[in-house]
Amino acid sequence: MQAIWTLGSKGVAEHPPLVEDAEVDVAIVGAGITGLTAALPLAEAGLKVMVLEAGTVGGGATGGSTGNLYATLASGQAPLRHKWGDEVAAEVVRARTGAVDHVEALVQRFSIDCQFRRQPAYRLVTEERQHAGHDLNEELDALVSAGLDVEMVEESGLPFDSWGIRIAHQAQFNPLRYVEGLADALLGEGVLILQHSPVREIDADKGRLRTDTGSISAKHIIQATHTPKGISLVQAGMPVSREYAVSARLRSGDYPEGIFWVLDPFHSLRSYRHGDDHYLMVIGEKHPLGHHQVEAYRNLRDYLDARFDVESFAQQWSAQQYTSPDGLPYIGRMHGHDNLCMATGFAADGLVWGTLAGMIIADQVLERDNPWEARFGARRITPGKSARQYVKENVSVTKHMVKDYLGTEKLESVECIGPGQGRVATVDGEKLAIHRTEAGELKVLSAVCPHMKCIVHWNPSEASWDCPCHGSRFDTDGEVIEGPAYHSLAKCGGRD
Ligand code: FES
Repeated sequence: MQAIWTLGSKGVAEHPPLVEDAEVDVAIVGAGITGLTAALPLAEAGLKVMVLEAGTVGGGATGGSTGNLYATLASGQAPLRHKWGDEVAAEVVRARTGAVDHVEALVQRFSIDCQFRRQPAYRLVTEERQHAGHDLNEELDALVSAGLDVEMVEESGLPFDSWGIRIAHQAQFNPLRYVEGLADALLGEGVLILQHSPVREIDADKGRLRTDTGSISAKHIIQATHTPKGISLVQAGMPVSREYAVSARLRSGDYPEGIFWVLDPFHSLRSYRHGDDHYLMVIGEKHPLGHHQVEAYRNLRDYLDARFDVESFAQQWSAQQYTSPDGLPYIGRMHGHDNLCMATGFAADGLVWGTLAGMIIADQVLERDNPWEARFGARRITPGKSARQYVKENVSVTKHMVKDYLGTEKLESVECIGPGQGRVATVDGEKLAIHRTEAGELKVLSAVCPHMKCIVHWNPSEASWDCPCHGSRFDTDGEVIEGPAYHSLAKCGGRD
């Protein structure tokens, strides 16, 4: 399943994989918006920078995002203000505004052809939702208090009754084309970008990383991997969820312009043009990882069909989100290691947080002051604002462990697993993840996640094995797609 952003994707120049050990000043793991934003100032400062990407540039969370850039949070400014107070809520808006401006400046500087344009964002209620008690006035007040240019509007430009708040001067772009443009600029700066080079081990004590083909010594290591690889304290309190997207062509050619958050319940809408083709996309149906909704894509198609004159549907894709327990991202030096940085906890707002993270981390490595370093620091402890979610998340992980270890069904016969299906079952006391391909081949893997031993679940929408505990995902061959696991699911043999 390919995101709409791959239309017209140019990719970036391929480098051969590492064939001998290397020594660099900075090794960045992950070539998404965080890693590449950080790489630029580091290379410009004369440091030797290497970016190691498990897949392709922008092929992870960045390329699965909405392409929306905004100063507030998709979950609302009022909840943020309620949790953190006026001062911090306004700081978040200032920091994120600076990050959006940074993206715009880089687009202009490198002439990146990514359709960056300033657009309003709308937070809307509909006829169905008007008595549901959503307090737009509270949200408006919080946005004004944070210094944003907002107004109440009776009409949004959508072809159904909806009204709410218009936030001026936000932005949209094609996130994949943007990071591909950044990567091109970095190659010109002498940065080495190695694609298809998953990192299998990070030893921060020794300042060393290992891939399948070589080992890298680095003075600084940046984990720009959406969630840190390996075992980290922050994973204990961060729920992981997936959200889905569907795009469509409309008969009327009447595509709404802007970022639309429709609270009925939450759906995000926006349009995108590729050449002469125009598309409308809807994002929604979010659910915790491992609690699969086979109907997610169909529900989104029904949503568009009910509200727009859909001619045909085009792409569909999904993306992962990690939400921090206190609602702010973790950015910067990790516990115990001054040479190891990370960025995570972006929730649904990752493009702007990722840009900000790249800026903050580059400043840390270069020992430059950054106004936001302390606010979003990865070592912060905020029990008053995060204890409840920590407890909830740890109970959830424990529940998964107990339920999945004790409750996995015994499999009488593999014949009951049809083409395209997957099932976790106990066979001879072993937890197995069994998938039958459309061609009938049986693929059998260990169902035990190599990260911290939870049991993976079959995800029928994506045909992947997903771990509900901390977000590791594996393809049907067991290879890591994303998440904290370094290693693939163990193979247990198979038969035709
Ligand atoms: Fe942590 Fe699977 S991702 S146990």
